[in-house]
Amino acid sequence: MQTSKNTILITGGATGIGFGLAEQFLKMDNTVIICSRRETRLKEAQQKLPGLNIRVCDVTRIADRMSLVNWITEAFPNLNILINNAGIQKNFDLTGLIDIAAVEEECDTNFIAPVHLTNLLTGHLRNQPQSAIVNITSGLAFTPLAFMPVYCATKAALHSFSLSLRHQLSGTSVKVFEIAPPIVDTELDGGARDERGQRDRGISPEEFATLAIAALKENVYEAAIGFAANLRLKREAMFGQLNPEHRGS
Ligand SMILES: NC(=O)c1ccc[n+]([C@@H]2O[C@H](COP(=O)([O-])OP(=O)(O)OC[C@H]3O[C@@H](n4cnc5c(N)ncnc54)[C@H](OP(=O)(O)O)[C@@H]3O)[C@@H](O)[C@H]2O)c1
Repeated sequence: MQTSKNTILITGGATGIGFGLAEQFLKMDNTVIICSRRETRLKEAQQKLPGLNIRVCDVTRIADRMSLVNWITEAFPNLNILINNAGIQKNFDLTGLIDIAAVEEECDTNFIAPVHLTNLLTGHLRNQPQSAIVNITSGLAFTPLAFMPVYCATKAALHSFSLSLRHQLSGTSVKVFEIAPPIVDTELDGGARDERGQRDRGISPEEFATLAIAALKENVYEAAIGFAANLRLKREAMFGQLNPEHRGS
């Protein structure tokens, strides 16, 4: 994929991985639009990177997704790359009753929104000479961490969807990429890693963005970065290592 002179929408681009990608893509002479729920974080991002275009959007809301697509295709008719990055991560204890509204929110953010945004934008992207859809999944798409069961399932679903999408769009100008990050030091876990005493903070968003963009440039359609490559390769064989207290059944 060409990595300059694109017009790129990154969902959830005000922080973490999305911001890391936005920063590097801007430096590489791309037009970048980011969207997320918190206007303050969008404005902070824009102050750090004055070339950035911002839009408030809650991707769990159908109406927000539709108005985002209407706005962006009107304001940025050369839009040729969609990066489905926005995501949330929750822990659920399946031995008791769980908050099903929280499950729905996680599914809507991590899976339904990418599916809908992809579908809404595919017609537009097909009319661009070169275009791409990039889905940010996770190493946990291949081997789940048991205490965040829904998160891992949404990422496995997005991985599966990416395979089908790539197949269906293979005769078009739209390339379909999946990037599976390892642990990246972001706000995703809401402090849960600290509570668990997890020492591994992972790689920085900047380092991740460099590796991900290198993979996109080389047309690696399914790029598992760092430790995520191990999870992708060995899958269920890694389950015990990721979930040491698991005794099997
Ligand atoms: N960090 C890791 O270790 C890791 C590993 C594997 C995969 N990933 C994936 O990488 C992606 C980015 O996560 P991150 O680690 O960079 O975490 P992050 O810093 O928390 O970024 C997530 C972004 O998504 C936005 N977002 C959340 N819900 C949204 C909604 N309903 N509508 C619009 N935007 C929303 C958030 O902004 P608002 O809250 O303001 O909306 C935030 O900017 C996620 O898909 C995550 O699953 C991360």
